Amino acid sequence: MEKQIVKQRGSIYCNGSAWASLQTAIDTLKPTKIFVLVDANTQEHCFPSFLRLSGTSTLLETITIAAGEVNKTIETCTHLWNVLAKKGADRNSLLINLGGGVVTDLGGFVASTFKRGIEFINIPTSLLAMVDASIGGKNGVDLGVLKNQIGVINNPLLVVIDTCFLKTLPEEEVTSGYAEILKHGLIDSETYWNLVQGFDVNNIQSTENIIWESIKIKNSIVTKDPNELGIRKLLNYGHTLGHAIESFCLEQKDRATLLHGEAIAIGMILTTFISSELLNFDNNKQAAITQLILNHFKKRSFSTLEIDAIIGLLQFDKKNRGGEVLFVLLEDFGVFKINQKVSNDLIHKAFLHYQNS
Ligand code: GLY
Repeated sequence: MEKQIVKQRGSIYCNGSAWASLQTAIDTLKPTKIFVLVDANTQEHCFPSFLRLSGTSTLLETITIAAGEVNKTIETCTHLWNVLAKKGADRNSLLINLGGGVVTDLGGFVASTFKRGIEFINIPTSLLAMVDASIGGKNGVDLGVLKNQIGVINNPLLVVIDTCFLKTLPEEEVTSGYAEILKHGLIDSETYWNLVQGFDVNNIQSTENIIWESIKIKNSIVTKDPNELGIRKLLNYGHTLGHAIESFCLEQKDRATLLHGEAIAIGMILTTFISSELLNFDNNKQAAITQLILNHFKKRSFSTLEIDAIIGLLQFDKKNRGGEVLFVLLEDFGVFKINQKVSNDLIHKAFLHYQNS
């Protein structure tokens, strides 16, 4: 079965005809120049395969940035805008983002703003970018440690997914991406949650099927609500606290930074506990979710003062309205309520639950 979603913009092709769709897009667009944005890791581990698999005969120029979330900044964008200008990029140039979430988020933003917007194509190479970051058109950068505060929503022309790139990933990066797949289980259905528990990146066929199922879940939500006025907030499940935890750890020089998925995994445990307290999410299911997540993600500890600092960071969440921090919570798998207020006391109680689980 062909794994493809064809849209006017933001079509998604996974394996099968994916590389042919890239060539067709290039043939149609006839870009004056093609730039490929990579980071130091994807330059080494993915770019050679990209050259072989894409088979593109058009001359490419690579642009390399340093790897990691700390480089997802406006300074990196300024550098890239300058490089594009110096290399003679014009409005009919194409930027191909070959990398994980940092490369696709940042590259999408650079392309969307350079000369008021040039075409870009995402080729996600991490699990996280395949199932989440590369799809739905959210592009942007962090503001200091605050996640994704600056950006635009603009779909790539195309998303080309080849799961062969997963072989290049360190284990912790696979686990980080798995957090977003688990999120899709929680927000979609108990059936999908049960299915994703069997995720094993070494089982190629099942991995490909799960990735495609997650993409379909994300795509159906972003198609209904591209600008996140309502249901798209569901894709932020666990992210309100998760982003604050990620920002907090980025800020603390003496703490190990967490990969995005690790922070989101903690956020999902906390948010599901809060859901059981406020919306009667079944306690047994909630306990099982906590244990399943803890089987995959190392437990971290946070002092009361640190939790207060994390709560302080919630004020920057992009879903806030009029200074109020608003969560998306679950009544059950796939049954949600957006714009929910949560007291600081309950957040502390949720952290206690996490530490004692
Ligand atoms: N990653 C959440 C979203 O795309 O809305």
